[in-house]
Amino acid sequence: MPAKLIDGKAYAEGLRARIGAAVATLKKEHGLTPGLAVVLVGEDPASKVYVANKAKQTVEVGMNSWEHKLPADTSEATLLALVDKLNKDPAVHGILVQMPVPKHIDSAKVLNAIDPAKDVDGFHVVNVGRLSTGQEALTACTPVGCVMLAKDTLGDLTGLNAVVIGRSNIVGKPVAQLLLAENCTVTIAHSKSKDLPGIVRGADLVIAAVGRPEMVKGDWIKPGATVIDVGINRIERDGKGKLVGDCDFASCAAVAGAITPVPGGVGPMTIACLLYNTVKAACAIKGVKAPGM
Ligand code: GUN
Repeated sequence: MPAKLIDGKAYAEGLRARIGAAVATLKKEHGLTPGLAVVLVGEDPASKVYVANKAKQTVEVGMNSWEHKLPADTSEATLLALVDKLNKDPAVHGILVQMPVPKHIDSAKVLNAIDPAKDVDGFHVVNVGRLSTGQEALTACTPVGCVMLAKDTLGDLTGLNAVVIGRSNIVGKPVAQLLLAENCTVTIAHSKSKDLPGIVRGADLVIAAVGRPEMVKGDWIKPGATVIDVGINRIERDGKGKLVGDCDFASCAAVAGAITPVPGGVGPMTIACLLYNTVKAACAIKGVKAPGM
């Protein structure tokens, strides 16, 4: 039987509707309008598309949105001064500096300059440390989206063998921490792991976040396993541009129990989770209980 398709687009739409309802409640009952500031340095075309989508969806759920577009030759000091200004602005509850930043800017320095209470990306070392020690934290958006889809598909994840392929700070490491917190037995594998196919064959839940187009093949997948594909890779096929994941979709879908498509799987979850984090941050800063989302 072919795998069930995990519809991240539909799940993200539902989540955004719940966030919109939460924002309406916060405005009415607490006079609180959550606000997100996004900073883009330079002209990277993919980043421009992401930032425009973030701003559009922020406004659609009823939140305040600010876009700060800085030229590519902006100095690190100027960027840090803007972050400091946003840290101090009481209307701003979430700050996101779009990555990558130009090479002359130290990205870690910028990310760690953001007030951890406003760090809706969950990239600040304080939030990373809180996540890994089981404390309340703002957590990276794509990992949160992956776990939401896994739980929606499988229910309780307790005891499952989860294999994360990829060890990035943005996805691999935080998603492994979230799965540990869900009581999974977690293996973090990567492109240099010995016998990667053998490791993946032991997984009930596979999270592929390695950034290599169609690397994971169907004969690596345990029959019935759930496959969450984080990859978004642009390739040329038959003379046309095409988006593919880190999993070879056709062969994996023939074996898996459930699988995310690319596009339309994890991708739409990232911005929805950013809005979710902004509501959480606004409530924590204001000292009000976050409405259910
Ligand atoms: N660039 C690509 N994805 C992301 C993300 O989730 N956050 C930030 N800040 N930059 C990114």
